[in-house]
Amino acid sequence: MNRLRSLRLRLVLIVVALLAVVAAVIGVVSVVVLQSYLVGQVDNSVRSAVQRATHGPGDGDGPGGGFVLGQGEGTVIALVQGGAVVSSGYLDADGRQQTLTDTAQAAILDLAADGRPHTVDLDGSLGEYRMIAVLSTSRTTALVTGLPLSGVQGTVGQLGTIFGLVALAGLALAAIAATLTVSAALRPLRRVAQTAATVAELPLDRGDVDIDVRVPEKDTDPRTEVGRVGAALNRLLSTVGTALAVRKASEDKVRHFVADASHELRTPLASIRGYSELTRRTQPDLPDEVRHNLGRIESEAIRMTKLVEDLLLLARLDSHRELEQEDVDLSLIVVESVGDAHAAGPDHEWELDLPDEPIVVTGDEARLRQVVVNLLANARVHTPAGTTVRTSLAAGVDGAVTVRVADDGPGIAPAVRETLFERFARADASRARATGSTGLGLAIVRGVVEAHGGTVGVESRPGETVFTVTLPPAHAGLAPAPDSTPDGMTTGAVPARA
Ligand SMILES: Nc1ncnc2c1ncn2[C@@H]1O[C@H](COP(=O)(O)OP(=O)(O)OP(=O)(O)O)[C@@H](O)[C@H]1O
Ligand SMILES: [Mg+2]
Repeated sequence: MNRLRSLRLRLVLIVVALLAVVAAVIGVVSVVVLQSYLVGQVDNSVRSAVQRATHGPGDGDGPGGGFVLGQGEGTVIALVQGGAVVSSGYLDADGRQQTLTDTAQAAILDLAADGRPHTVDLDGSLGEYRMIAVLSTSRTTALVTGLPLSGVQGTVGQLGTIFGLVALAGLALAAIAATLTVSAALRPLRRVAQTAATVAELPLDRGDVDIDVRVPEKDTDPRTEVGRVGAALNRLLSTVGTALAVRKASEDKVRHFVADASHELRTPLASIRGYSELTRRTQPDLPDEVRHNLGRIESEAIRMTKLVEDLLLLARLDSHRELEQEDVDLSLIVVESVGDAHAAGPDHEWELDLPDEPIVVTGDEARLRQVVVNLLANARVHTPAGTTVRTSLAAGVDGAVTVRVADDGPGIAPAVRETLFERFARADASRARATGSTGLGLAIVRGVVEAHGGTVGVESRPGETVFTVTLPPAHAGLAPAPDSTPDGMTTGAVPARA
């Protein structure tokens, strides 16, 4: 059980158990000491009674019929001769002499005649006795004298009861006091644990995290154990906070570098492409080989431009830059993109499923267009000729908009299934290089969709691959940028990649 492991319960149990042991030891010792003291007193009285019985009226060999007279209440006197009780009796509460029962007499016969007190259990209402047996001068007769232990037992019993009750009450009080004290002592620890739990819930793995949670000042007193834990946790939080800030700064640096580099590369790439095209066009009598090489330079420059644009867009998405927030006619984007895809891939079947009313969302038109274009490009590039690609657009009851791109191609290769939406995730890297695939398309899809507060999912098996993009309804508000640090990145609209 979990409760048994709690420190509070354990401490309380330990305190109560220790107290119980101490109380038990004190109680037992007191009872034993008191009992032996009281029994000693009874023994002295018995000895006096022996004196009175042997030196009282009558001869030395045995008192006559009224031999217990003159003794105290309860006193038992017996004469033993030849292994049998010849005369016996005791005084009852009214001072009258009573005879002993047979069992009591038998118990008396077992007594050793050594003149020392022994405890004898007499039968019936008499109970336990301290008895002394002395031999007469002729050594034929033994005189047995005894006094009851009932008084001693009553006193000892009462002491034991009182002690037990007081001990129980004390234990109950101690348990309550210990619970309160321990709870109070552990309360700071609970606050420290609360702080740690709060920090554990912070999304520390992304963005600009500022850990401003700290253990309260009053729980960081280094003179107490809990205070030291609290202070150590605060130091740890500061260190982690600094480390995260450093990490963030270096990430930002890399991001800026990628963005700047991509941006800077666009112009020379455009020049390479432009000059090769110009040369090819204006020099009609170029040898075929040169013409071919110029064509290669041109297509590679186009490919590199696309890669650079993708990297720039990803870097910008990473730094959570504000998106445009305009009304975007998604129906139009889908119609145009499918038309372009048809032109680029005439060997595929292109189907379109649109609602009658145009569907409008709030967001960045160029980037949303790129989402659709990337999904259609995948359905074209990664499937064989003859594949049917069905694009559908629908608005849900809650206004959320769904774009589905489904194809009946071979499905997504298992090798990339896990990392599909990550950067540079490609099924076959060596083949991909030949086809100009870089593996950034779906990373961009996810980045853009999530920046719009939407989700993207995929289901794929041979013969059916479906990408589903869900976007929030128009004017639902874009996902709040968790990190809106002003960045020093180069600005400029990102052109759509159509
Ligand atoms: N419709 C699909 N059918 C089969 N495989 C797909 C499909 N869409 C994506 N894939 C697989 O997922 C991988 C990643 O796709 P992604 O769009 O991210 O990169 P890419 O298409 O290879 O390159 P890029 O889009 O940057 O030119 C692809 O390489 C391909 O193996
Ligand atoms: Mg792609």
